[in-house]
Amino acid sequence: TPDVRPLIAGNWKMNGTRDALSEIKAMADGILHSDLVDHVDALICPPSTLLYVATAICTDSPLMVGAQDCHQKQSGSHTGDISAEMIADCFGTHVILGHSERRTDHGESDHLVRLKVEAAHEAGLTAIVCVGETANQRDAYETLDVLMRQLMGSIPESATADNTVVAYEPLWAIGTGLTPTTGDIGVAHAFMRDELKRRLGREEGGAMRLLYGGSVKPENALALMSVDNVDGALIGGASLKASEFLAIYSVY
Ligand code: G3P
Repeated sequence: TPDVRPLIAGNWKMNGTRDALSEIKAMADGILHSDLVDHVDALICPPSTLLYVATAICTDSPLMVGAQDCHQKQSGSHTGDISAEMIADCFGTHVILGHSERRTDHGESDHLVRLKVEAAHEAGLTAIVCVGETANQRDAYETLDVLMRQLMGSIPESATADNTVVAYEPLWAIGTGLTPTTGDIGVAHAFMRDELKRRLGREEGGAMRLLYGGSVKPENALALMSVDNVDGALIGGASLKASEFLAIYSVY
């Protein structure tokens, strides 16, 4: 999208212990010394056990650090949960919300995701809201209906181009090595762009970053990132290694 600054984001999911911090250090150095640093943003979302130390490693680098989920409240009796304020307290700047693995493993609804996005905004975080269809929904030609429902349900009124990013992750493309055709991604992203403009106004909807996620690798990144209305990537497996993450970052 013209004038939209791309974002390359990594989601480590439930991977990474202290020995993986050397990868974050290598990413931080790589981004700091990249020619692209003034034009392309980079973010890594390790598990929350590594959040504080990861932000410490990244203090001198433009590599930003985020979390993978937060509770809809900022504090209280919610054993095992972390709040958006806690992420901000660790110097995290972003939080992934409504990832399909949370929607599936923890039964998260669009409504709950929306409350979490609001909590993230209250704490000053940028929310990365994930949407995407299952293989069955795709086969039944329901992709755009699903995207419409998830966008309407999960994106609150508080959303702006600064505090919200949308990630399109078709479930059947996650961790499978499969990706939609660039044509199909173009249709999905153009649809989301129109929908967000209608909802939030031309300005905010036009400037909101729309990431593609699902089997993004160094080999396919250039083709995927060249699709209209694709403003970056949300990377799972290939974000675990600094070399692959930086290779994807470098396609811009
Ligand atoms: O959030 C990113 C993710 O779901 C995609 O995973 O491993 O297919 O890149 P992967």
